[in-house]
Amino acid sequence: MIVVANWKSYVETREEAKKLFALAKRLMAAVRRVKIVLAPAYPHVGLLAPGNRSRVAFAAQDVSDTTVSAATGEVSGATLRNIGATYAIVGHSERRAKGETDAMVAEKVRRALVNGLTPILCIGERERDEDAQYLSILKSQIAAVFSVLSPKERLQVIVAYEPVWAIGKHASDAPSPEDIAEMVLYIRKVLSDYLPGKNAKSAKILYGGSAESANVRAIAGGSGVDGFLVGHASAEPAMFAALVKALA
Ligand code: PGA
Repeated sequence: MIVVANWKSYVETREEAKKLFALAKRLMAAVRRVKIVLAPAYPHVGLLAPGNRSRVAFAAQDVSDTTVSAATGEVSGATLRNIGATYAIVGHSERRAKGETDAMVAEKVRRALVNGLTPILCIGERERDEDAQYLSILKSQIAAVFSVLSPKERLQVIVAYEPVWAIGKHASDAPSPEDIAEMVLYIRKVLSDYLPGKNAKSAKILYGGSAESANVRAIAGGSGVDGFLVGHASAEPAMFAALVKALA
């Protein structure tokens, strides 16, 4: 199981960041089947990732769609790789809500791959409608990215299914394991258009949206996901420890 800890903007001090990193190292030593990827704010990636010799890996919460250029405020994939990130979250709904388009997300995924960062591509519908239009939203979010990647690049993308309506709430508001299982099947079916043979079956799919200690075990056992993208429950030590231990 992969657990990506998306600290969002919850962690603002070096002390908190260091404490959470130390906790992640202890948890990974204790719970061998869980791989923890920490996604702090950029400056904290720079604080924690250089010289990291532990099994904990680092993700950026975003990556620029530009490279060396006059692009004020952008952080390029090369910069992130140089400070020790090995993953990048791309297309998070909180970035999309600020105007990030599918085309920008696709370019960001490419920039991540070119720089040796494993992209964690976030997809998810804002709401569920009775006509199941939300399925076509997921399909087009996947198509926008996978259609511009080479067959080799496609194999490296991790997909995080995050229904926007379930983000930032509580375990009881998250979809059931059965619901997530259906979505995982659907996502694999869409991926099979881009990943030949058995590759769609082995593509890594994470679930995100109010993943907490109370629901991760049931979701892990009953939905076919390969792990979780965790927001609020990853930025608070006791909640994060309980969540990882629930997967033991
Ligand atoms: P949440 O956030 O766990 O707080 O719902 C998940 C995410 O947005 O990645």
